[in-house]
Amino acid sequence: MASTEAAVRTEQSTLQELGRRHLWMHFTRMSAYDDHDIPIITRGEGCYVYDEHGNRYLDGLSALFCVNIGHGRADIAQAAVDQAKELGFFTNWSYAHPRAIELAARIAGLAPGDLNRVFFTSGGSEAVETALKLCRQYHKLTGHPNKTKVIARDIAYHGTSLGALSATGITSLREPFEPLTPGGCHVVNTNTFRMAHGMEPSDLAEAIATRIEFEGPETVGAVILEPVQNAGGCFVPPEGYFQRVREICDEYNVIMISDEVICAWGRLGEWFGAQRYDYQPDIITTAKGLTSAYAAMGCLIASDRIAEPFMKGTESFIHGFTFAGHPMASAIALANIDAMEREGVIENVRQNEGPFREMLESLLDIPIVGDVRGAGYFNAIELVKDQDSAEQFSDEESETLLRGFLSGELYRRGLICRADDRGDPVIQLSPPLIAGPQQFEEIEAVLRPVLTEAGKRMRVRS
Ligand SMILES: Cc1ncc(COP(=O)(O)O)c(C=O)c1O
Repeated sequence: MASTEAAVRTEQSTLQELGRRHLWMHFTRMSAYDDHDIPIITRGEGCYVYDEHGNRYLDGLSALFCVNIGHGRADIAQAAVDQAKELGFFTNWSYAHPRAIELAARIAGLAPGDLNRVFFTSGGSEAVETALKLCRQYHKLTGHPNKTKVIARDIAYHGTSLGALSATGITSLREPFEPLTPGGCHVVNTNTFRMAHGMEPSDLAEAIATRIEFEGPETVGAVILEPVQNAGGCFVPPEGYFQRVREICDEYNVIMISDEVICAWGRLGEWFGAQRYDYQPDIITTAKGLTSAYAAMGCLIASDRIAEPFMKGTESFIHGFTFAGHPMASAIALANIDAMEREGVIENVRQNEGPFREMLESLLDIPIVGDVRGAGYFNAIELVKDQDSAEQFSDEESETLLRGFLSGELYRRGLICRADDRGDPVIQLSPPLIAGPQQFEEIEAVLRPVLTEAGKRMRVRS
């Protein structure tokens, strides 16, 4: 064995050993790596990433809905280097620095309507946590101190910090941490594929009004919704849904939060998801694609009306994080938005979302494929036991299907996507926004044989 080859092998096995011993991976069954390699991704380029053995993968998930502009951009790295040399760090507590100001103005310019005030965070959960605290303080300042509850939707994921977790509607994520921050209430989501018998799509928004009445309007402060709900598999809103939610929020003096941690920054073919569905929220929370994840950053964008009580006299928003609005993250976000504009990244999504969707829908001839849904570059395939009746898999069957076969097999064949069972089993596809027909072909070339085989293994009726 040549000595350089031996050195590379040693480095790889050392990384595996160190990873097994010391790295605590998130939402991960660490025991799964007792007898399997940890997938160690070492570099990325465009829509592709490479593992420690040099194997190439199509990143069909944009590294968890994050790397919108694609991997390995030297210009974005350079923006970070330039900023670090000029001013590595200064905080936004009582001070400002040029990049945070420029970025706040830039975001306000892209956001819908009068969403003009930007509060930075270091990620999505922090943005949601910030929004929930802002709503509570806003209502106290404006004479409604009991408006502390937040309405969210079943199976929605809004983050893991204790406040955000009270909005998250996934029992298995909440249960280990009970009791949660009080006030989280849940209503039906927009899963029209599995809508309760007798319900119409137009009833879905009414469920929010009903819940506000049930809780007592004087106790409900906010509603938090994603434009397209991620968990459960890309639930899109029915026609008129958000317009009706807006009316309900106005009627009951409830703040409407559009949680766009995933759905902003081009993912749905617009800067913000609210623009795609033509509604005006009071607050947007976002993260991920803001920097294309070249740095950890999120933010909350508030309307002039919500910000106003905090802007006068001795009042202030009693909240902050040391690193939020970090100069390097801000410089990276600015470079990311520049590149997206210059290179027509959002136009690319608009142009190609149709062909992307057509390719996914062509898989409906495979018996295990029950539904294809989503918008822009954010799509899900729901897997069913019987296509005609849309029969669901049991929990044990889902486990066998997703963890026992699909996740590993898709990765082995070079496709990174998400096989998820926080609702019914789905595969989510959300490639970098620079992807096009070539990547769609590659995705199909993996999905078709793997889903066909999955159907056979699960004895799906055809
Ligand atoms: C809609 C939504 N809100 C909040 C979060 C939490 O963001 P983070 O993981 O950056 O804390 C996520 C993460 O995926 C999300 O999708």
